[in-house]
Amino acid sequence: MARAKKRSPPAAVHNRFMDESRWKAVDEYVDGLLVQEDDALHAAVRASEAAGLPPIAVSPAHGKLLYLLARAQKAARILEIGTLGGYSTIWLARGLAPNGRVTTLELDPKHAEVARSNLERAGVSDHVDIHIGRAIETLSTLAPQPPFDFVFIDADKPSTPAYFEWALRLSRPGTLILVDNVVRRGALADADTDDESARAMQRLNELVAAESRVSATLIQTVGVKGYDGFMIALVG
Ligand code: SAH
Ligand code: DHB
Ligand code: MG
Repeated sequence: MARAKKRSPPAAVHNRFMDESRWKAVDEYVDGLLVQEDDALHAAVRASEAAGLPPIAVSPAHGKLLYLLARAQKAARILEIGTLGGYSTIWLARGLAPNGRVTTLELDPKHAEVARSNLERAGVSDHVDIHIGRAIETLSTLAPQPPFDFVFIDADKPSTPAYFEWALRLSRPGTLILVDNVVRRGALADADTDDESARAMQRLNELVAAESRVSATLIQTVGVKGYDGFMIALVG
């Protein structure tokens, strides 16, 4: 049961470069210079917090990455699984091609309501469709044509492999699929982990490795949201 793998790293590993306060300081440095969230993004974070939503939206730098990838894709159709308060949705919607749409799936009606108001304030609500319900059920109601150009998977972690398979069905050659929270403080590499989310991410990696239709990589990240990482997969 309790195994040696649970022990803490040796004290020497805790040098100043491994310190979470450093990760935060660098994120804040980058946010100040490159990301530059505007009032609508700040307000979305504040309103989500005030409504009691968990503070698990993507970081500002990660949000900007979503925006840049959407733009690079010239994405007219974006699928997001897991809306929360719509912070990532705002970034995605801002990266849309003219007349594009974001379809975002959320289980919790309260989260969806907060998102609606945040999207409205950001001026993107005309380009976003929020579907309330279990994503796995909503996905089966979405028309596979036209396919999505970009998919962001960020909902209940144990369902991630199933969401990835749905994303593939709703994709075309050239679609990008980004999956959040794949590293889970390193639990991804722990073959004995009993964290259900980490096990799901291991299944995801195995599924993707065996899937000839996608080419993928995974980037570990540190920052204001701690130690995690994302997978990015290109279809076709
Ligand atoms: N993408 C958001 C964060 C999403 S947090 C951002 O970065 O701003 C994960 C969200 O997934 C939560 O709002 C949670 O309610 C939702 N969720 C959990 N289980 C779900 C399910 N089965 N179907 C759809 N959404 C789900
Ligand atoms: C959790 C979910 C997320 O999407 C995230 O980015 C961080 C944490 C969570 O459920 O704990
Ligand atoms: Mg996430």
